[in-house]
Formats: sequence, C-alpha cells, structure tokens
Amino acid sequence: MTVTDIPAPTDRLELPPLQLGNITIDTPVVLAPMAGITNTAFRRLCREYGGGLYVAEMVTSRALVERTPESLRIISHDDDEKVRSVQLYGVDPLTVGRAVRMLVEENRADHIDLNFGCPVAKVTRRGGGAALPWKTELFTSIVQTAVREASRGGLPLTVKMRKGIDEDHLTYLEAGKIARDSGVAAVALHGRTASQFYSGVADWSAIARLREALPDIPVLGNGDIWSAEDAIRMVRETGVDGVVIGRGCQGRPWLFGDLMAAFDGDAQRFRPGLKEVADTVYRHAQLLIETFGEEDKALRDIRKHMAWYFKGYVVGGELRAKLASVPTLEVLRGLLDQLDMASPYPGVDAEGPRGRAGTPKRTALPEGWLNSKDLNEDQRAGIAAAELDVSGG
Ligand SMILES: Cc1cc2nc3c(=O)[nH]c(=O)nc-3n(C[C@H](O)[C@H](O)[C@H](O)COP(=O)(O)O)c2cc1C
Repeated sequence: MTVTDIPAPTDRLELPPLQLGNITIDTPVVLAPMAGITNTAFRRLCREYGGGLYVAEMVTSRALVERTPESLRIISHDDDEKVRSVQLYGVDPLTVGRAVRMLVEENRADHIDLNFGCPVAKVTRRGGGAALPWKTELFTSIVQTAVREASRGGLPLTVKMRKGIDEDHLTYLEAGKIARDSGVAAVALHGRTASQFYSGVADWSAIARLREALPDIPVLGNGDIWSAEDAIRMVRETGVDGVVIGRGCQGRPWLFGDLMAAFDGDAQRFRPGLKEVADTVYRHAQLLIETFGEEDKALRDIRKHMAWYFKGYVVGGELRAKLASVPTLEVLRGLLDQLDMASPYPGVDAEGPRGRAGTPKRTALPEGWLNSKDLNEDQRAGIAAAELDVSGG
C-alpha cells in the first residue's frame, strides 16, 4: 500500500486509550454502525488497517428476540473480532431488555450500543430513533433496562444519539445526563438534528458542550470526519475521548490506518494508487461472498461501494457504469483489469465529503409528539409498532 508522510503537527495529541467499562480501546476510534455497510466483510477490511472499535449494523431488538435469520447474520462476528460490538434499535423497554439479555446469556456480544439517532421518516413517524429521547420517561426506561441487563454479563452499554429533533427541540444534553445517570459506559453524539438528516455541517460545538456537561464518562464525537486531520481537529476543538467515523471510511477502509497513525503522532498516511483500490474492491467482494454465502447478493451489495472507492480516480464513465452494475465476481475481475493500474493517488479529489447527504426536512413525528415530554395513550400504542421494518440510521 502506498504510504506517504505529511507534515506532522507540532504539538502531539496525547489521548489515552478509550475505556468502555472493562474494555480498553487502544486507538480511541470507532467505526460508526451503518446499516447495509458495516457487516463482517467491511469491518474486516477496516480493522486490518488500524485499531479501534468496529460496530456492526444496527439490528432491531424485536427481530433479534424473534431470531430472524437476517438479525442473526447482522450480529455475527468473525472469530478474530476481539470486541464483538452490536448496535440495537428499540422503542420498547421490555423488548430492548430481552434483546440485551439474549446477547448476554448467549454470549453473542462484548459491547452493546443503543441507537437513538435514526432520522428516517418511517422510524421517527412512529416515535423511534432520534424522535425518542424527547420522551424522557420512555428514554430513561429503555436505557436503564438495557444497562441493567448488560451489567449482568459485565458488558458496557453505550448510547448514540443526535442533537435532537430540530434546533427548537434539542434533546442531547438532557438525554446525555439521563444516560450517564443510568450507568452507560459512554455517549456518542452526532452533531446534527434529525431534521438535518445528513445535510449541512455537523455542529462540533454541541459535541464540546456535551463533553463539558458529562465530565464523568467518555463522550465520543461524530460527524464529518473525512480524514485523520479532521479527527485530530475534533479532539482538539471539543475535548472528546474518541471519534466515531461513518461516511468518511466508505470506499476508504485505510482511513483507519491513517487514524491510528495520527493518534500515535505518526505522519504516515495511506495514499493508494488505482491498483491498490482495485485490489481492495475485489477483496471486499470476496469477503461479501463469505458474509452472505451468495455471490449474487454479495455482488449486488458491492455495487453501492463503487462510486466511493473510485471517487477522484481516473476511471472512464462507461467503466464506472459497468462497475456499478457488476453481476459476478468474474465480471468484476475483468472490469478491474481494464483500469489503468499505474494511475497514482489523485490527491484532494479522492478526499472530502462522500456518501449520503440529503436535504433538511421537517421530521415526521407521531401526532402531538412535541406537545409533551410524556407519552399519551395513543402514542404509547403507536410506538409499539415502531420496531417493525426498520433498518438504517
Ligand atoms: C448508510 C448509512 C447507514 C447508517 N446506519 C446507521 C445505523 O444503523 N445506526 C446508527 O446509529 N447510525 C447509522 N448511521 C449514521 C452514522 O452512524 C453516523 O452517525 C453518521 O453517518 C454521521 O457520521 P459521519 O459524518 O462520519 O458519516 C448511518 C449512516 C449512513 C450514511
């Protein structure tokens, strides 16, 4: 892999390992849970480059307690994943508690994260995801139940959330304190509201405020880290104990190598030429075949990664289109072989924002949701349906 030096920052960042309960993460970096992305194949690619914690795709508590094959696939880990990290989504304390208990009793995880950041309309419309922390009693009950069940197995439980529903209905400070008081091992904040989706710029000042408000537990910062330099800057500007990386590593699993180097005060960065990218794409497809056990499904999955992998590289339009609809591993090999393998790292064109962006829109919520922090009877009945059919964050 091509590695280059960039000028090292003059004052070295001294950040201690991230401590989540009894788990020590030497490089304080977390791969953000991403539905449809952070499966065993992608986690393997990422962790081969660096240290950190690598969270699986979110799974709904209900699907898990019902043991659907897809939910069991999502929570599976490779044998060499030292910390088996699972993210649960749930709206009902009882079901969340049962899911955590199942993970603990069946020894299926070492760390559990709860998702309170999902902005997708079909989730928030039913009061789930980023809409949920607004209902403080329900939020408290879910987190307390999950912490209690997780602690029976000595597992650290963390929560991941957004700033709130919109700028007029922020929830993160109150939710952070509730989570802290409930005994979570850490809180991660994505510096956007639900109504922003992935648009605009993440508000790192909110992350700094949360860090200040919760001096007694680790706070992790999330949003718009596209490079190791961004990560260092976030730590300096907010004081967080670790960073959570989502879209920045899409098509760039080597970012975890850059992050480990940066946190070690090392100036080396991965700058892959086109051949190295092509090799990684091929390996990613092979690993996806192992993950899904079906070539067809794996190749369908790899298609969405193509634009990310080749962002900024010299690849013709026709070849790009073919890569984005590649049907088999054999065809993939043939297409990759057509690339100009001598083509070097393109520099800034391969860097910066990538992946989902979207436009801000009003968050869909259950009737009267914002009128009170408590649930009314209709809302209570409504959220029971909120776990059905959910994926993504
Ligand atoms: C494709 C995709 C899937 C996601 N799925 C989840 C998820 O399952 N659980 C979750 O908590 N967040 C999910 N997120 C949100 C990310 O974890 C992260 O908070 C967000 O992308 C902001 O970080 P970033 O700016 O580094 O991308 C997802 C984001 C993307 C782009």
